[in-house]
Amino acid sequence: MKQKKILAIESSCDEFSVAIVDERRHKLMMETLSQIDVHAQFGGVIPELASREHTKLFPLVMEKVGTYLNGDWNAIDEVAVTVGPGLSGSLLVGIQVAKTIALMLDKPLVPVHHILGHVYSAGLTNEIVYPMLSLVVSGGHTELIISMTETEHTVIGATRDDAVGEVYDKIARKLHLPYPGGPCIDKLAHQGTITKQFTKPKMNDPFAFSFSGLKSAVMNEINRCEMKGEQVSKEDISASFQSLVIGELIGKIELALQKYSNIKTVNICGGVSANRGLRSTYKKLEDKYKDIKFILPELEYCGDNAAMIGAAYLTSKPLSKEEMLTLDCRPNLTIHEFLNKQKI
Ligand code: KG4
Ligand code: ZN
Repeated sequence: MKQKKILAIESSCDEFSVAIVDERRHKLMMETLSQIDVHAQFGGVIPELASREHTKLFPLVMEKVGTYLNGDWNAIDEVAVTVGPGLSGSLLVGIQVAKTIALMLDKPLVPVHHILGHVYSAGLTNEIVYPMLSLVVSGGHTELIISMTETEHTVIGATRDDAVGEVYDKIARKLHLPYPGGPCIDKLAHQGTITKQFTKPKMNDPFAFSFSGLKSAVMNEINRCEMKGEQVSKEDISASFQSLVIGELIGKIELALQKYSNIKTVNICGGVSANRGLRSTYKKLEDKYKDIKFILPELEYCGDNAAMIGAAYLTSKPLSKEEMLTLDCRPNLTIHEFLNKQKI
């Protein structure tokens, strides 16, 4: 049977990505152009630069789609695009491209929430059995979400301050490591030993996260070493920091499994899910919870990418023509607002 083809566009931060995914969530093609080199010299993403770069990059990735389709753009059945959250200028470029294609081809346009895109990234290579518990760990978000169906998602916990990826990037900067810091710290952590026991964050709400205290403790330790003229072991600091982060994240998953005993699938997603230490500790949960499936996105789907946006196209309905014409970016869109169509 012919499968529907969804053309998906993701441009919420510093990547312009386009993919074609079929309705079974199989990726048919994907092209992602990253701007990391442009932003690395500033130690983080500069929003104005990101949107300007997107306007240069999108024709290059769209050309790849044309080549894949052999010029037969009518083979596309629906267009899906990230509407938020993210950087407004960056989101706008993707939305304008998506609107133009949908209007020209006279195909439906489906708005997708960026975080729900991450939630479905592991679905590109794994079957999803509901209820599913997802831990989203990215540069801007740390959330625990329970999904009952494609259109029913509840956030049961989130960070009260910094996101995990953000803390990785800030500590990396302090250690004079290149941006983005997560992969560097991950690598160093494997070369070091846990020499410092940082204090676990304490929260009243068992499902809330907090990482700013840990961030300050790590920064203070680096300052203390520098002031005393002691050599800062980047490897040992990274190992000590990373072990506490992994313990926190896995601990929250286990806590959620105790409270929500009907969970069938567990999922970790977002840029930080590429972390080697986190992935291996997480996979050990399989031995303890035999009746639950523990899934992870492939490494190419951990960071921002359009295939995950295509994989999440069923989380929302196509827009009417009028809604499509007035569709705007939603930089702070929450999952709750998205599902209730409060701001779309
Ligand atoms: O999901 P993502 O690509 O973008 C956002 O939506 O934020 O996540 C980017 C974040 C960055 O903070 C980056 O440092 C982090 O993911 N990251 C990692 C690793 N690879 C990327 N953090 C820890 N370990 C990694 N291996
Ligand atoms: Zn993301």
